[in-house]
Amino acid sequence: MASKTKSKTSSRSGSAKAVSRKGPTGLSRRGFMQGVGVAGGVALVATEDARAAAAPKTRGPKRAPVTLNVNGKDRTVTIEPRVTLLRALRNHMDLTGAKEGCDRGGCGACSVQVDGALVASCMMLAVDAVGKKVLTIEGLAKGDQLHPIQEAFVKHDALQCGFCTPGMVMACKALLDGNKNPTLAQIKKGLSGNICRCGTYTRIFAAVDTAAKQV
Ligand code: FES
Ligand code: FES
Repeated sequence: MASKTKSKTSSRSGSAKAVSRKGPTGLSRRGFMQGVGVAGGVALVATEDARAAAAPKTRGPKRAPVTLNVNGKDRTVTIEPRVTLLRALRNHMDLTGAKEGCDRGGCGACSVQVDGALVASCMMLAVDAVGKKVLTIEGLAKGDQLHPIQEAFVKHDALQCGFCTPGMVMACKALLDGNKNPTLAQIKKGLSGNICRCGTYTRIFAAVDTAAKQV
């Protein structure tokens, strides 16, 4: 009885001596699986190498100087043509007010104005803004003097985490640029492209209503 128990314990700990797991070819199941794994890995590496060798050496146009008019000043950055306006602002001009939320035009956190129109800067290439006037949240205040819309947001405490706030303020500005006296329904429609994950909508709408009386 004692020797049977010992034999079982040995087999669980993987002792080849206690129970032979070799097949008629003399190859153990573990050895076979290890061999397949190594062969598969080698084949995968070979395939990747072949793909890399066949890939074109140049992936696209190289970086080039691009001049954008942002908040009234010309700024020249050296970027690839694929760079979005949002990335150009944040990563190349240190203008981090516009936020990257969804990076696909769904949340409005990256909102800026381009020639007065509200734009999701994550959906626009920087090169497409050449020759246009870009206005970001950083361009609203005059020194220490906040823009009336920003003051209204402060007055109504219209933010929690604040991540959506720059986009909300820019959407509010675009709305009030075209309609100085919006109804609540028009405010909701004007901000409908902007998401506040904290759910501060009631205070944001109140701030826009107050701002409408100031601008
Ligand atoms: S980050 Fe541009 S719309 Fe969401
Ligand atoms: S205040 Fe947090 S997402 Fe709007």
